[in-house]
Amino acid sequence: MRVHRVVCPGSFDPVTNGHLDIIRRAALLHDEVIVVVGANRAKHGMFTVDERVAMLEEVTKDLANVSVGTFRGLLVDYCRTHGVSAIVKGLRAVSDFEYEMEMAQMNYRLAEIETLFMTANPLYSFLRSSLVREIAAYGGNVAALVPPAVDAQLRVKLGSPGPG
Ligand code: PNS
Repeated sequence: MRVHRVVCPGSFDPVTNGHLDIIRRAALLHDEVIVVVGANRAKHGMFTVDERVAMLEEVTKDLANVSVGTFRGLLVDYCRTHGVSAIVKGLRAVSDFEYEMEMAQMNYRLAEIETLFMTANPLYSFLRSSLVREIAAYGGNVAALVPPAVDAQLRVKLGSPGPG
């Protein structure tokens, strides 16, 4: 029987509650979900690729059919070599759509890899990692925006005190 394996790709710098919502919902729909951290531009981020992977592994450890990996180069090459049938992406707002549609069409053109879009939970439609990094860097509270393990790692990274 063919295993339906999908990837949830992204920078995940760091993983947010919005990402986790998409990963969880994807895991309900597909046999296997591989969350893949794109390492091409990662050196300019806040967290190293290893740190991002460690946080993703921590926050997905209760999901038996979810694993975490990394990729360099083209996502479609990763998909081809790992038997991936489709790319799953979350769409937060119309503003995401143009860029995501371009990538989806290009990835299909390059390798006939399908992209499946899931609409973001409206609770998280304003949420992106860059905002989380900025709020945390200026001492704001991001505890409701990221999983507790990520909140803790942000405090470690920024040298800020814990709650209370
Ligand atoms: O979280 P992001 O930054 O939106 O993730 C973007 C990512 C890493 C999924 C995207 O940039 C990507 O797939 N990069 C790999 C390079 C690639 O395949 N480029 C061609 C896209 S058509």
